[in-house]
Amino acid sequence: MLPPEPKYSPLSQTLRWSFRPLPFMQECRERYGDAFSVRFMGFERPMVMISDPAAIKALYTERAHGLPPGREVVLTPIVGPHSVLVTEGADHLAHRKLMLPAFHGERMRSYEPIVEEIVDAEIDSWRLGERFPIHPRMQAMTLEVILRVVFGVSEGPRLERLRVVLTRVLEETASPFTQLIGLASRRFGGRGPWAKFEGQLKAVDELLYAEIAERRASGDFEGRDDVLSVLMQARFEDGEPMSDADLRDQLMTLLLAGHETTATALAWTFDLLLRHPRELARLRESLEAGEDEYLRATISESLRLRPVVPLAGRRLGADLEVDGLSLPAGTDVTPAIWLAHTRADVYPEPFAFRPERFLEEPPDTYAWIPFGGGIRRCLGAAFAEFEMRIVLREVLTRCELRKADRRPEKVARRNITLSPKHGTPVIVHDRHPARELAPA
Ligand code: HEM
Repeated sequence: MLPPEPKYSPLSQTLRWSFRPLPFMQECRERYGDAFSVRFMGFERPMVMISDPAAIKALYTERAHGLPPGREVVLTPIVGPHSVLVTEGADHLAHRKLMLPAFHGERMRSYEPIVEEIVDAEIDSWRLGERFPIHPRMQAMTLEVILRVVFGVSEGPRLERLRVVLTRVLEETASPFTQLIGLASRRFGGRGPWAKFEGQLKAVDELLYAEIAERRASGDFEGRDDVLSVLMQARFEDGEPMSDADLRDQLMTLLLAGHETTATALAWTFDLLLRHPRELARLRESLEAGEDEYLRATISESLRLRPVVPLAGRRLGADLEVDGLSLPAGTDVTPAIWLAHTRADVYPEPFAFRPERFLEEPPDTYAWIPFGGGIRRCLGAAFAEFEMRIVLREVLTRCELRKADRRPEKVARRNITLSPKHGTPVIVHDRHPARELAPA
């Protein structure tokens, strides 16, 4: 038997989830407690949602569980069959092992000057006194970071062209319409809007394969530390390198998984900070003193209150005990991340923005899960936080930023993310020049 589900129809449940996700979650928690089932239109089985850290730990620490429903069908046409997002079992683990070193501490420090340069150029382009939504600006920055740090393309016509075609592909993937059309039109022989989208993907592929071929031919990837070059040097346990198709799939994966998510997390952090002057002042002071503990705590608190990815589930490969029930293998189960993050028994005053709570007592691993958990935990988590620290530090020390709209942002669903509905409009009142980088 599954946990209880709302009394209204699957259509009504899907609409509530789509348009008012947080009130819908809250209502289910109040009515049914820590575990309940939701029926989404188009899915053959209900989705069991859980929020108790012990249950989440049980879910994430069992390796037998598989991908959540729908992920493979929707993502494979874009990220390809080798992608770490859609592979399972030994193949998935082999790819993770190969990719993880590219995102480790020391390596990331070498990316810092590039990210700083990108952020400073973006800040310099902002017009003083003019109202603009900050979310699209964060998207432009995180795309540039992926192009230069992950793909390692830093200049020339290929960079220009990639920027254009990738922006188009990303816009299409952000639209739920494309996903539906994609599923439908592929069934009818792939004509219409899907064929157009496939044409755009093909243009991206041509550029990526050309970049890989050029780097192989010149052999200069061995001295470079962008993520693509690191992946080209890496070897699987049998001594084989990644094939070109494999490399292309992982690049698309890192773009899709790392671009929108990080931009949205940044937009939410600005929304929260600009509405909480005391916390903003404390953060500024700590940055001026050259400290980063409060900055890290601010990012953790922002990802707690506004988790960008609301669900990171699994299809059970083994039975799972939850809330006194035994869920059989084959059941779809996901942590409801926002509910896990707003439990009063773990986070006193759960809806208050209080970065201090992460300084006082860091939460249990499975009570703070903006990056999911276990063997599918976000590969780019450390990279995302590193990038966020640089962007926040540069923007807040260089700019006098205010919110253009006094009301808190509404939460809207955009693709798989929970995004600020109006893009967080801001006004830059003052700006200081970028720091001179010390000569190497
Ligand atoms: C604030 C920004 C980000 C958030 C909130 C986020 C969140 C997530 C979540 C929830 C998952 C699913 C985890 C699970 O199923 O347990 C995930 C997976 C993943 N993320 Fe992120 N992510 C972010 C940034 C990034 C970045 C910057 C990259 C890389 C450049 C990245 C690469 C990946 C990859 C490759 C996976 C698949 C891991 C696997 O299946 O083994 N993410 N992310």
